[in-house]
Amino acid sequence: MMDRITIRKPDDWHLHVRDGAMLNAVMRYTAHHFGRAIIMPNLIPPVTTIADAVAYRERVMAAVPEGSDFRPLMTCYLTDRTDPDEIERGFRGGVFTAVKLYPVGATTNSAYGVTDFEKIRPVLARMEKIGMRLLIHGEEASDPSIDVFDREATFIERRLHPMTRAYPALRIVLEHLSSKAAVDYVRAAAPQVGGTITPYHLMLNRTDMLGYGIRPYYYCMPILKRERDRLALLQAATSGESCFFLGTDSAPHPVAAKLAMCGCAGLFNAPVAIETYAEIFDRAGALDKLEAFASLNGPAHYALPPNDATITLERGDWTAPDEVAVDGPEERAIIFRGGETVAWRVVSA
Ligand code: NCD
Ligand code: ZN
Repeated sequence: MMDRITIRKPDDWHLHVRDGAMLNAVMRYTAHHFGRAIIMPNLIPPVTTIADAVAYRERVMAAVPEGSDFRPLMTCYLTDRTDPDEIERGFRGGVFTAVKLYPVGATTNSAYGVTDFEKIRPVLARMEKIGMRLLIHGEEASDPSIDVFDREATFIERRLHPMTRAYPALRIVLEHLSSKAAVDYVRAAAPQVGGTITPYHLMLNRTDMLGYGIRPYYYCMPILKRERDRLALLQAATSGESCFFLGTDSAPHPVAAKLAMCGCAGLFNAPVAIETYAEIFDRAGALDKLEAFASLNGPAHYALPPNDATITLERGDWTAPDEVAVDGPEERAIIFRGGETVAWRVVSA
């Protein structure tokens, strides 16, 4: 039995750190353990220009603790009116690593998202030409006749598959895979398409969320699915296959926004993320595949080098903290697995 593991430092290919007091409260958790992170642009208002991203990157860097080598990788929020020239300038200038596509209404702060897929054709064509990655929240949300549990599969069929045909050289990341259908699709569409997998989609199913009382803290988009979907995700993540890689989708919200008549989607897992992945891989007997998933497959999909530094994790119980104070005692964000025993811990990073 392996009790200790040293791997290349991981990267988080899908992360929300927000802004202002929340950013300052949460940034350190990721900076402690990860080399880089793809920073999601769904602020209010969203990050849609080079100037927005430069300013946001400075605020993010200011929230990174001193002495950390962490590097944020910025993204541009795609709208119906995004200018391909701005995208190309931002990419060539080293500001934008990728573009993020939110279908309108699909998730938190997606009101400015894409309403008409015809309108983004010039941007996609340009990205294909310059070799820039497209990150997709893959859910068909604007059609209310689609059941919420079928949004991902429907998006793949209606939108993603035609897109891969129309732009065969466009490299895509389907974010936060949540279903067996998505796992099967990514596998079939690799290496053009890669997929990130969150710790919570690996740990939970919809019965955990709804079967024994309603647990609003498990509410996220894409919504948790059946046990057979979770098992397909677990098999994919721990397989070592290069098309599957780490993206926590850590998404902190103030308590009042989660516990409301219309609560918002998103789950804050950065304080337990790499430890939780290690625990999951260990339980699956696949610790030897953790480095590929966490530290190698992602950079390869982005054509970036892996980190040189390493991180060491060790078997050992600790109790996850319940919450983080955001802005004095009144504002706080509840932490995924808070109060639970976590079976692995980081000993050096
Ligand atoms: C994310 C958020 O809160 O920004 N929420 C979520 O449920 N995952 C947005 C997203 O990635 O969908
Ligand atoms: Zn997200």
